[in-house]
Amino acid sequence: MGWELGKPRPILVEYVEKGLIPKGKALDICCGAGTNTIYLAEKGFEVTGIDISPTALDFAKAKAAKAKVNIDFSVQNFVELPFKDEMFDFVFDMGCFHHVQIADRHRFIPGIHRVLKSRGVYMLTCFSVKNGPAWNHFTRQQLVDLFSGFFTFEEVRHVSSVEGDGVTRYFYTILMKKAEITG
Ligand SMILES: C[S@@+](CC[C@H](N)C(=O)[O-])C[C@H]1O[C@@H](n2cnc3c(N)ncnc32)[C@H](O)[C@@H]1O
Repeated sequence: MGWELGKPRPILVEYVEKGLIPKGKALDICCGAGTNTIYLAEKGFEVTGIDISPTALDFAKAKAAKAKVNIDFSVQNFVELPFKDEMFDFVFDMGCFHHVQIADRHRFIPGIHRVLKSRGVYMLTCFSVKNGPAWNHFTRQQLVDLFSGFFTFEEVRHVSSVEGDGVTRYFYTILMKKAEITG
């Protein structure tokens, strides 16, 4: 798994330590092998982790058992989100949105908005166009255009990261708050 750092994402750790992430119920959407999910649980969040891959979730469950943390893991498709409205204080998306097919974005983005509580926080990390042109490598303006109808932007960072496979990749990390949709 090329994305697996074997430790939680440094920018997630930074935001949690700075108190920018509201404590409470967190959803790790596309949780993979659960490294960030387990970190959040260890920090006192009540965590749900979803992924489409049963194999990834088997890894995640074994690691969570070893870490002695309780996490609600389940196999789910990110376009479905079988959760009640306004259930989560925080949605963590590390490398998830850039897997969403273009035709599914109009379901995915409102889905995140729906499951977040009022003023809930969405932390998005997705590929930047600096990796080269591709359908899922984004400019800052594309991300503004996609998300600004649903969220207010608190902080935007362009970051590079040496990934688990040794390759340097570029990402946008955006901390957003749920906006009230009017009209
Ligand atoms: C780049 S990995 C990121 C994993 C994790 N967030 C991390 O940082 O370690 C992307 C994950 O998205 C999952 N995924 C892909 N399509 C999905 C879908 N339709 N619904 C839910 N998860 C999906 C993959 O199985 C994979 O675990």
